[in-house]
Formats: sequence, structure tokens, C-alpha cells
Amino acid sequence: MKCHVTGGEDPDGYAANRTTPDLRNVGCEVCHGKGTEHDRTTPLAITEAMCRNCHQGEFEKGFNFAAALPLVSH
Ligand code: HEC
Ligand code: HEC
Repeated sequence: MKCHVTGGEDPDGYAANRTTPDLRNVGCEVCHGKGTEHDRTTPLAITEAMCRNCHQGEFEKGFNFAAALPLVSH
């Protein structure tokens, strides 16, 4: 489930549809860092390790970082 929500393993992240509806699905903060820390941290560099939090193991399905990055860049 953590791969389909935002912050699924973070105490401040997704808990349930009823209590944290805004954190359903893969949102901006998955790749760009927590909004609550925007004023304290420099923007996160997008790294392969971040993607591999979800795109790994039985869910990898041939994930290739170099090929995938342009598909999500915006
Ligand atoms: C799957 C990962 C992913 C998600 C989710 C995502 N982004 Fe991005 N975003 C990227 C990538 C990759 C880039 C290209 C620039 C880079 O590498 O930092 C980017 C670039 C940006 C930039 C330009 C940053 C700059 O310095 O030029 C903004 C603004 C931005 N995203 C906002 C958002 C917002 C708002 C959302 C949610 C609606 C979102 N992003 C969701 C991956 C993501
Ligand atoms: C929080 C979990 C999560 C993270 C982190 C994440 N993704 Fe995904 N991504 C998903 C899910 C879930 C799907 C939908 C998979 C499906 O439908 O089979 C997806 C789909 C995609 C797809 C389209 C499906 C495909 O295989 O062509 C691309 C491209 C992609 N992600 C790239 C990235 C990149 C690049 C990053 C890192 C910058 C990233 N993702 C980080 C969860 C995540």
C-alpha cells in the first residue's frame, strides 16, 4: 500500500482515506519532499533511490531510472 499513497511510512503521512484524504495516491511530496519542510530544507534532488522506495522487488517490472525520469519530469 505504501507505493500508492504519500508518506505511507511516515508518522505524518498517509494513515487512512477518512483521516488523511489529501495523501491518497502518489503526490508531489513523494518526489519533492515534505511540504512542512519546504522552508527548512533545500529542494530535494531527484535520485534513483527515491524511486526505488516503490519501484523495486516484485513491483519493479523492469523499472529503468534513466528511461523513467523523462516520463515523470514536468
Ligand atoms: C514521480 C516523481 C514526481 C512527482 C510525483 C512530482 N514531481 Fe515535480 N518534478 C519531478 C521531476 C523528475 C522534475 C524535473 C526536475 C528535477 O529533476 O528536479 C520535477 C520538477 C518539478 C518542478 C520544477 C522544479 C525546478 O526546480 O525547476 C516543480 C515546481 C514541480 N516539479 C512541482 C510538482 C508538483 C506541484 C507536484 C504534484 C502536483 C509534483 N511536482 C509531483 C518529479 C516529480
Ligand atoms: C510512493 C511510491 C512511488 C514512488 C516513490 C515513485 N513511484 Fe512511480 N509509480 C508508482 C505507482 C504505484 C505507479 C503505478 C504502477 C502501475 O500502475 O503498475 C507508478 C508508475 C510510474 C510510471 C509509469 C508506469 C511505467 O512503469 O511506465 C513511471 C514512468 C514512474 N512511476 C516513474 C517514477 C520515477 C522516475 C520515480 C522517482 C523519481 C517514481 N516513479 C517514484 C509509485 C511510485
